[in-house]
Amino acid sequence: MTVPLRTGEEIAVNVALGTRSYDIVIGRGLLGSLGTKTAALRPRARAAIVSDDNVAKLHLPATVEALTGAGLQSSTTIVAPGEGSKSFAVFEKVCEALIAARIERGDLVVALGGGVIGDLAGFAAAVVRRGVDYVQVPTTLLAQVDSSVGGKTAIDSVHGKNLVGAFHQPILVVADTALLDTLAPREFRAGYAEVAKYGLIGDAAFFAWLEANWREVFSGGAAREHAIAVSCRMKAGIVARDERETGERALLNLGHTFGHAFEAAAGFSDRLLHGEAIALGMVCAFEFSARRGLLPPTEAERAVRHLAAVGLPTHLSQVTGGLPDADRLMALIAQDKKVKRGKLTFILARGIGRAFIAPDIDAAEVRAFLAEKLG
Ligand SMILES: NC(=O)c1ccc[n+]([C@@H]2O[C@H](COP(=O)([O-])OP(=O)(O)OC[C@H]3O[C@@H](n4cnc5c(N)ncnc54)[C@H](O)[C@@H]3O)[C@@H](O)[C@H]2O)c1
Ligand SMILES: [Zn+2]
Repeated sequence: MTVPLRTGEEIAVNVALGTRSYDIVIGRGLLGSLGTKTAALRPRARAAIVSDDNVAKLHLPATVEALTGAGLQSSTTIVAPGEGSKSFAVFEKVCEALIAARIERGDLVVALGGGVIGDLAGFAAAVVRRGVDYVQVPTTLLAQVDSSVGGKTAIDSVHGKNLVGAFHQPILVVADTALLDTLAPREFRAGYAEVAKYGLIGDAAFFAWLEANWREVFSGGAAREHAIAVSCRMKAGIVARDERETGERALLNLGHTFGHAFEAAAGFSDRLLHGEAIALGMVCAFEFSARRGLLPPTEAERAVRHLAAVGLPTHLSQVTGGLPDADRLMALIAQDKKVKRGKLTFILARGIGRAFIAPDIDAAEVRAFLAEKLG
């Protein structure tokens, strides 16, 4: 944990990956410095901005101005908002637009948007001309603390989400926390589930700080930059140690095995946003851990209480339209995760801030737990 920032300060978190290291710069009002920060890394580069309709209406003019002001020429490609844009069809459109804009080695893609744009534009940058550099300008809380960091890029297949993609690290992440002021409160809250996740995974002191300061994170005081910086610092550390998820990086999936099943059951629709599903998934992970005697029930209750306090769903009955039965949820879990001889890998916890990888969880035990939770 670090001390909270003062307003107007910017904080840099480095992702240490040797020659592919980069900074995540966090602060209120940073968008204005995007051009100078980018030009410092790639002078004379041409920038191809990729964004969605919603974000472009609000933040594209300032982005173009920031780049132009630093002497960087830019072009723009705008796609429809939403997960539907992580498709082959839209991906093709983006790639063709980058090629038409004559983006070459030495030039840049600028991903201006939430996780959808970051994943889509990042993947296009990974493959156009066998790879060009890109800069992430995340505009959702989820993107600022999670998807813009770590270099996972992807689009969706008819078989599932994020099945076609590449590891491709950005050269810079500029997280302007003021951009979150225009985000729908429900989207902000959903992104907050990932912030709380970092505390639950590995930083009990941060979790306690969030319990005391979450209101200011939501309202946009200096606590917001602090929360984002601590989140990014944890993710950056994990990514630096395990870029390709052969071990520790799996901890970031806390709540995600349960959560993905809930999301899939709700049809990846606005019945249940990703972060809302993850909140429910973390509740399940903690309650399942308590049920196995890994932690005292009061510790699981504390985790649940905080998620509920910020307005995230913590009961499966809160999913609009309801959820299917335990067998169907288990089938969705099996689609998402390999089941080896009836065993599954879950991220469980021995306490707040003490998550660990449990590779040998009995699918039947999970099924019984879900049946109880649904009933
Ligand atoms: N690559 C990774 O490591 C990683 C990690 C987590 C999630 N993801 C991916 O991220 C995606 C979800 O990202 P998301 O939650 O940011 O969703 P999103 O990109 O769809 O954004 C949510 C909504 O908010 C709008 N929006 C974005 N910024 C705004 C702003 N500043 N003001 C007003 N409206 C704004 C968007 O137009 C959209 O309608 C999923 O596809 C998920 O798979 C990737
Ligand atoms: Zn997530």
